[in-house]
Amino acid sequence: MVTIYPPKGLGDLVFPTTRAKDCCEAFVKGNLDWLLLHGAPGSGKSSAAKTLMKCRIPDLIENFDVIHHNASRDRSIEGLKNAFESLKNCGWNSLDQKVLILEEVDQLASVAADTLKGLLDDCEGIKVPIIMTTNHVNKLDPATCDRMVIIDWPNLTTEKMTQWIENQCVKNSRVLTKAELNQILGEATSFRKAKQALERL
Ligand SMILES: Nc1ncnc2c1ncn2[C@@H]1O[C@H](COP(=O)(O)OP(=O)(O)OP(=O)(O)O)[C@@H](O)[C@H]1O
Ligand SMILES: [Mg+2]
Repeated sequence: MVTIYPPKGLGDLVFPTTRAKDCCEAFVKGNLDWLLLHGAPGSGKSSAAKTLMKCRIPDLIENFDVIHHNASRDRSIEGLKNAFESLKNCGWNSLDQKVLILEEVDQLASVAADTLKGLLDDCEGIKVPIIMTTNHVNKLDPATCDRMVIIDWPNLTTEKMTQWIENQCVKNSRVLTKAELNQILGEATSFRKAKQALERL
């Protein structure tokens, strides 16, 4: 078995494109505040969102400072409003900031989705970091998208996936045969699938 550890720092992320890397670095520096990551299932969006928040605020306390709202669990307008309301409380970190990760944003009920634009506008000026994720960017309200820096987050190319698999194996002191590598690559259409294949070894 090859154990896969979740990414902790920027160096553990594999950016699918140069633009994704540049935008994420700007976010960590505080030069961009609102990102929307979109791409196929398992491409690493949620992991990147958590990691980027930790990199931006190194003493971020996950249970207190991160408002994590998943619209596929709660599609309601009340749930969404509560998430934004919580942002007004100060965080427990050195920047006194709460951050919002809004997952599967395309799953919001239409009345909640209609409210999102206004809720974002209410956050203007308080420089609160927000990262949204979705598999279906085309389902989102264009006015919401317009407020976000939209980052395409596709699955990795075979070359980048090979590099990531090899790095994971090095961390586990495991050397793969060519046949094992090819078999894993055949399954590794996403990070999730790669992780499943590696953990089965
Ligand atoms: N850079 C990485 N290093 C190690 N593991 C990773 C990395 N990126 C993703 N993973 C792992 O791959 C799996 C899928 O990642 P994640 O949940 O972030 O994908 P996603 O794009 O949010 O998927 P979905 O669209 O289905 O929500 C997770 O178990 C995660 O821990
Ligand atoms: Mg996700």
